[in-house]
Amino acid sequence: MALSSNGSSEESELYHAQIHLYKHVYNFVSSMALKSAMELGIADAIHNHGKPITLDELASTLKLHPSKVNILYRFLRLLTHNGFFAKTTLKNKEGEEEIAYSLTPSSKLLVSGKPTCLSSIVKGALHPSSLDMWSASKKWFNEEKEQTLYECATGESFWDFLNKDTESDTLSMFQDAMASDSRMFKLALKENKHVFEGLESLVDVAGGTGGVTKLIHDAFPNIKCTVFDQPQVVGNLTGNENLNFVGGDMFKSIPPADAVLLKWVLHDWNDEQSLKILKNSKEAISHKGKDGKVIIIDISIDETSDDHGLTELQLDYDLVMLTMFLGKERTKKEWDKLIRDAGFSSYKISPISGFKSLIEVYP
Ligand SMILES: C[S@@+](CC[C@H](N)C(=O)[O-])C[C@H]1O[C@@H](n2cnc3c(N)ncnc32)[C@H](O)[C@@H]1O
Repeated sequence: MALSSNGSSEESELYHAQIHLYKHVYNFVSSMALKSAMELGIADAIHNHGKPITLDELASTLKLHPSKVNILYRFLRLLTHNGFFAKTTLKNKEGEEEIAYSLTPSSKLLVSGKPTCLSSIVKGALHPSSLDMWSASKKWFNEEKEQTLYECATGESFWDFLNKDTESDTLSMFQDAMASDSRMFKLALKENKHVFEGLESLVDVAGGTGGVTKLIHDAFPNIKCTVFDQPQVVGNLTGNENLNFVGGDMFKSIPPADAVLLKWVLHDWNDEQSLKILKNSKEAISHKGKDGKVIIIDISIDETSDDHGLTELQLDYDLVMLTMFLGKERTKKEWDKLIRDAGFSSYKISPISGFKSLIEVYP
């Protein structure tokens, strides 16, 4: 048997390669099974049951036809293998052993009504329009026109699609997804209070419907907070004395404040556009001299990290930003260049929420 350079057989290398390839080909099955679990409400059913639930109890709670019980079992088997449910053995009334399912930390994030519920992220990321566009990727590579894959596939930009019908389910789904991601920020805020302490005013640029700002406002009621976003997003929203909503265009100007927050924003835009946003942010904090700051929350890719899964997630996000918006997730080196090109003198990067970074940028 021929041996490869590292001493393993060529066949073994081939089999490993096949497994590696198939695993990546069929990754979508795990994603879609997770989406099915979310749509069926499995996490809610287990949560409401209050203790581990047997397959028959779960099928009955979900009101599934008896012919679907074994199908449910096979979905649960994959999802349990993937860490979304845990199995325990119970004794039934007849004293027989039965398998019962409980939630894991990951499926607890699918329990609706909880501040940490991320179901709308699953719904949004795996929405048919986000998936269908990938079939146009060859066409996209072969044309010169600078446009997103989304635009190439559908004929309109994702922003135009969202904005053309402000009552649409898709806009509220996108906003729900953003808001649910932001609610997770509450935990991160606890660990990063020092970043906001001492500020008198803050403007949350492209702050959506204000999910993050409301959390900051709750934690620091004395900071004058402004949520700044497109007029069609914030136009109908009302706040209070220290929480207000302002409509406008961050590429033109940003309302003045001691600090500008850019959470999950710069990754939507290319370097030229991000530079403009950062320069406008610098202008917005200029009245504070050296005491103002810009707070960026985004991914900082670390390809040298030992955590392969985490880097894969960051690189996945990069392709999502590229294909949807021609945006990008940036490496530390790219952040350094962007921040210095915008005229800032220093910055500090710290990890936040597991896979993102908080970057405090000083004039
Ligand atoms: C990815 S969302 C970020 C939401 C928010 N920062 C968060 O973390 O939940 C991007 C936001 O950018 C806003 N946006 C897009 N273009 C804008 C512009 N020219 N001026 C102000 N906001 C804009 C969108 O309306 C959207 O709410």
